[in-house]
Amino acid sequence: MFLLTLRVADFIMAIVMGISKIGILTGGGDCAGLNSAIKWVVKTALDERLERERGVKYEVLGIREGWRGLLDIDLVSGSDARCCVEPLHQEMVRTWDRYGGTFLGTSRTNPYNPKNDQSKMVRDNIDRLGLDVVIAIGGEDTLGVAYKMFRDGTNVIGIPKTIDKDLSETDCTLGFETALNVITEEVDRLRTTAGSHRQIFVVETMGRYAGWLALEGGEASGAYIILIPECDFSIERVDELLLEGRREGSRYDIILVAEGAKPTGGVEFVRKDGIDSFGHKALGGIGDYLAKEIADKTRLNLRSVTLSYLQRGGAPCAYDRRMGRYFGIAAVDLVTRRDFGKMVCYKNGLISAVPLEKVIGRPSLVDIETEYDVERYNGRRTILVSEEKAKESAW
Ligand code: F6P
Repeated sequence: MFLLTLRVADFIMAIVMGISKIGILTGGGDCAGLNSAIKWVVKTALDERLERERGVKYEVLGIREGWRGLLDIDLVSGSDARCCVEPLHQEMVRTWDRYGGTFLGTSRTNPYNPKNDQSKMVRDNIDRLGLDVVIAIGGEDTLGVAYKMFRDGTNVIGIPKTIDKDLSETDCTLGFETALNVITEEVDRLRTTAGSHRQIFVVETMGRYAGWLALEGGEASGAYIILIPECDFSIERVDELLLEGRREGSRYDIILVAEGAKPTGGVEFVRKDGIDSFGHKALGGIGDYLAKEIADKTRLNLRSVTLSYLQRGGAPCAYDRRMGRYFGIAAVDLVTRRDFGKMVCYKNGLISAVPLEKVIGRPSLVDIETEYDVERYNGRRTILVSEEKAKESAW
């Protein structure tokens, strides 16, 4: 009886307050921290206390496989929509933050593909589903689509994720810290083999055209040489550094190289020809090339390891779980304020939001003047900023 009264009260509240439907999707390469963000969007949106305070009742619809879910769904013929969308509830997402990947699935679908623009179909489906807003969790590509959708009249909010950390206006992109932990653990593992065999390991990381993964992964794991896309390198200089290390008594070395790095005068290495619907090449192969080139010249004993998708996998580290939580909550705060077209972000220790317009097409890259040692191909050895500068950038 009590339950029934509650349900009736809920129903009346829904009528009085009105229901707003939030769609949520994850797009692009998977990574750790996505499920945490989804969980906290759902929990914050459906929280009953917050619901009363906000005076709005939300429903959350999970969209499967990124923007593809809104393309594959056939709402005109009235067919079953469950392949593409699914209502999310608090109980369902209770444990999601502990798991890597994305329970909603993901894809690299570009509705604005210049060869076949299907963006209108996506917008029509958003309307047919009655979605008031779409929260897109993604990197440059997925958020780029979100930005165009917003420009074309759809309410959107972005949550930043990418192991590449190449989105500007935020110090955190979900997945990056977990990937750094993977790199550090794997390099630790390689050290024992390298030391036992007096080997040099060339370890290739992901990151596209941004060197953050290699640089910060190399700093965390204590790599001897770190090669990043922002600074073309000389193979002769790499040989020199390695031979110098040997003369100083090192038994083994670790070289971390970003997939987008290239030798001076060369071009980036690709795993396969062609480009995807966002215009990206499939980068990869520099590690193998480098190991062979250096071995040929120096006669040192080299091996190469490509960390590849291991960097995207596994359970999220504490930081990505926590940031997923904060980003999820902040995204619902934006929905409540009806402040659309923005990406939630973490900057100088604060969670806030920036217009997507300020993020898209302006990748965040390593500043080799201040963040890289171009002589020793490694992290900087002087790091302290002046008190004035610290004050300037504080909020
Ligand atoms: O953007 C994330 C990323 O993991 C890049 O570091 C890498 O170049 C790319 O995705 C790999 O893409 P795919 O999943 O299409 O192989």
